This record gives sequence, C-alpha cells and structure tokens, in this order.
Amino acid sequence: MVTTDTEKQNAARTSLAYIKEGMVVGLGSGSTSEHMVNFLGERVQQGLRISGVPSSEKIASLAHSLGIPLTTLEKVQELDIYIDGADEVDEGRNMIKGGGGALLREKILAYNAKKKIIIVDSSKQVKKLGGFKLPIEVIPFAHKVVMAQLHQMNLNPVLREKENSPYTTDEGNHIIDVDIMAFENYSDLNELLLSIPGVVETGLFLGYVDLLIVGIKNETKIYGNHTKMG
Ligand code: 5RP
Repeated sequence: MVTTDTEKQNAARTSLAYIKEGMVVGLGSGSTSEHMVNFLGERVQQGLRISGVPSSEKIASLAHSLGIPLTTLEKVQELDIYIDGADEVDEGRNMIKGGGGALLREKILAYNAKKKIIIVDSSKQVKKLGGFKLPIEVIPFAHKVVMAQLHQMNLNPVLREKENSPYTTDEGNHIIDVDIMAFENYSDLNELLLSIPGVVETGLFLGYVDLLIVGIKNETKIYGNHTKMG
C-alpha cells in the first residue's frame, strides 16, 4: 500500500531536479520539506554546491545537521528557488499554509524567490479551500482583540496552543486558526484580514506556485510553468 508519506517523499525527490549548482535555495518547513532537505543533504554530501535559506529554526537545524551551507536574507536578497509543502492547494493553485506555524517566514522567502515549487501528497489537492483551518499570525499584544474581531466576522477563531500555552512562532507571535469555508473570494478575505491591526500575516498564499509537484500513489504529477524553471 502506498502511504501519504511515500507520496510526500516522491514529490520531494522530484523537486530536486530543479536545484542546480550554485543556487540559493529557500527551504520550506513541514514533513514534505523535511524529506526534500534530507534528499538535498545527500546531494550536498556528493558534492553539489548550493546554499540554503531556512524558513524555520527546525528546518535550519535539520539542514545544518546534514552539512547544507546556510545563509540569510541579510546576505542574499533574492533566492533562485523556493521549495515548500502546503496544507491545501485548490485548482487555481491558491494555497493554505502554516499548519506547522512557519507561514510568515515561508511567505517572505517565497515572495523573494525567482521560482517557487510546491510539493504535496495527493490529500492536499482540494476543490475548495477551507477544510483545513486558515492560520493567521498575530502579535501577542493584540491577540485577544484580534480574536474578538474574527469572532464578529463569524470565522470561529481558535487560538493555537502548545502544552496549554499559546503557540509561539519563530518570530515570537501567536497563531489563530479560522474557518474560511464560507468564503469564495480569497483575495478580498486576505486583504480584510491583513487590515486588522495586530495581524502580521495570513496563511493564504495566492499566486505563489510556479510548479506544483503532487505525489499520487507511486507517481508524481507536475503542473504549472515548466518554461520558467529553465
Ligand atoms: C508549515 C507549512 C507546511 O508546508 C504545511 O503545514 C504542510 O506540512 P506537511 O508537509 O507536513 O504536510 O505550511 O508552516
């Protein structure tokens, strides 16, 4: 039987073909990205020279343990390629990300990358976004008032917790997960959420996919702009 994890591994392995010598590579977060970083580590150990910009402390420490040279957005302002997973992807390649809580750094890296590749298992492909709750990153000072505002918008907000305390991101913020199933216009919704003072970023990634690589059973399917990949 082909497991979800095998699909993730297959998608991750396929993405490595787009990483070339000398590239600055943005490293996403989550289990699919961890597979990608493990495969990339093997290539680096075989002599591939690249540098990585990690989207979370967790992926930084994995990459470091594998001998992948790391750099920062202070040293390089543009990434050649960014590779990451997703929680949901719809047919228009709109995504929900942030299940792992790294959405802010992930969006910053993706925005500043020339090419963006998303790697997912087949369960992530959906007709309509919203089965997965949308993560919203908020500054701790404002989290109560933002919660109240999101309640008023009928978004059923839930403050994410870890060990009975509010979950804290690598940037020291909190995450509120909301239900967006009733919404169709994601761009308007995103703008509305970002207009609330205290909201730092949302996990709605609109227009952030050049290539989508999906592990489906023992195969991988690749959708998107192949020519942009060079
Ligand atoms: C982390 C993310 C991940 O890409 C997303 O949660 C998918 O995770 P996984 O690859 O473990 O299914 O957005 O913030």
